[in-house]
Order: sequence, then C-alpha cells, then structure tokens
Amino acid sequence: MIAIACDHSAVELKEEVKKLLTERGYDYEDFGTDTTASCHYPIYGARAARAVASGHCDRGIVICGTGIGMSMVANKVKGIRCALCSDTFSARMTRVHNDSNMLALGARVIGVELAKEIVNAWLDAEFEGGRHQVRLDMMTAIENGEEIE
Ligand code: RB5
Repeated sequence: MIAIACDHSAVELKEEVKKLLTERGYDYEDFGTDTTASCHYPIYGARAARAVASGHCDRGIVICGTGIGMSMVANKVKGIRCALCSDTFSARMTRVHNDSNMLALGARVIGVELAKEIVNAWLDAEFEGGRHQVRLDMMTAIENGEEIE
C-alpha cells in the first residue's frame, strides 16, 4: 500500500501518479488534499508520513510545488527517510543506498512524464543493504539523539 498526499499545487500531478500506481498494480491510500484551494501542506504530508511510519502503508509519495516543504515535513516523522527527486538516477539510488521509504516530487519543477519515470525508477529499485545499512543505522541513532562516533 502506497500513501500519497499533495497540496493545492499538485492535485493534477497526484492524479497522474495515482493512475500510474493503479496501472502498475499498486494499491494506494490518498491522504488529500483533493482540491486546488490553498491549503497547508504539513497537514497532508504528516498524514501520509505517519501512515508509513506506523506500518499502515509500505511507502509514500508526497507532492507539493517544489517538493521541498513536503519532504521536510515527512522527514520530521520518526522512521521516515523521504527523498526529494527531480531525476531518475537519484530516485533509483535513494532506494538502493538510502532505502528511502518516501518520495517527494515538485509539481512546479518537473513535468508529468518525468515525474512518472521517477516514480517508476523509485518503485523498481531495491535496497542493497550491507554497508548502507550501517549508515541507515547511524541515521536512526541520530534520530534517537544517540552519539554515532
Ligand atoms: C505552496 O504555494 C508552496 O509553498 C508549496 O507547494 C511547496 O512548494 C512548499 O514547499
């Protein structure tokens, strides 16, 4: 199950991403917003991020104008590793090396077709583990206020 959310700037792109997810056989849960009326992206980003952090959803995709606000919000939630991507290489690598569990997109930065390729690259890549797991464990330690050296 993929959690998906956006703000007013990204409703159209979110619908395209939802279509892609359905075509690819993924279930999703849409945490809003549903209209182009100006709203506060932290409300929707936090709903999606908390659904992923709790295990209710496996991964999440959040979209705002730049993708920056949504990625910041998602990364405030413990256990979330949200990557803002505007290219397919980063989208793949953030799965392979960072095991990102959320993807952020900027609807005012990239076009629909590139966004779909980024989502595909992110969905298809697998975490490599090994030395990268050590680094993720350090991130978790930082999140828990522990020393890592
Ligand atoms: C909304 O105008 C805009 O600030 C928002 O979509 C996003 O880009 C924030 O980071």
